[in-house]
Amino acid sequence: TDMIAVIVAAGRGERAGGGLPKQYRALAGLPLIAHAHDSLMRHPRVAGVVLVVAEGAEEMARAALDGRPVLAMVPGGATRRASVAAGLEAVAALGHGDRVLIHDAARPLIPRAVIDRLAAALDDAAGAVPVLPVADTLARGDQGALGDIVPRDGLQRVQTPQAFRLDAILAAHRGWAGGEEPTDDAQMLRALGEPVALVAGDPVLDKITHPADFDRAETWLAAASS
Ligand code: CTP
Ligand code: MG
Repeated sequence: TDMIAVIVAAGRGERAGGGLPKQYRALAGLPLIAHAHDSLMRHPRVAGVVLVVAEGAEEMARAALDGRPVLAMVPGGATRRASVAAGLEAVAALGHGDRVLIHDAARPLIPRAVIDRLAAALDDAAGAVPVLPVADTLARGDQGALGDIVPRDGLQRVQTPQAFRLDAILAAHRGWAGGEEPTDDAQMLRALGEPVALVAGDPVLDKITHPADFDRAETWLAAASS
């Protein structure tokens, strides 16, 4: 079956700085949000995009998308979790499709093979996420001095897009009991005891968080098109 992609783009992009929230800033001439839309829609299994934007940012989003179609555009919330929940409710209201991809607008470049792997993993699990093993040494900082080392064996960096069966991830969001804000959706599913499958991620999916990340992504883009 086909998948509907939810792109969350309702953040403020404070760490990236710049005059405009990062999702509207250009990478090689195209706003991040348009890159993410193209990367998702290019995949034959992706049926359409539901876009979550900050309240009042609808016009800016339409301009950035420059004619790219969306199934729905809905206002997000104060946290990423709330924004995803709004997007999932919009998907549910569409009433078609039983699988979703949830994706950060701040990850503009999505290799097709990653979506292939997610779609395949979803045949046997309610959720699947792309991961990369941690390469650096991990340690706690102890007031300016090196603290305890955290064994990195088995530790994964979790990326998006994340793939879910719609009913399962919708139930996880609707049943969220509050407390510490989750930083992604897979952890919400796992909290319900549902196993989440791991597939190989890709460095190109690393999130644009800080100003220098734009340069890194432009280098990748240039390499991919040369
Ligand atoms: N996001 C969202 N709604 C929020 C917060 C975040 O839709 N209330 C989205 C962002 O737009 C981004 C993704 O979630 O695409 C990942 O979040 P992050 O990288 O933290 O983006 P920002 O919250 O915008 O950046 P920062 O934390 O630096 O302010
Ligand atoms: Mg944030």
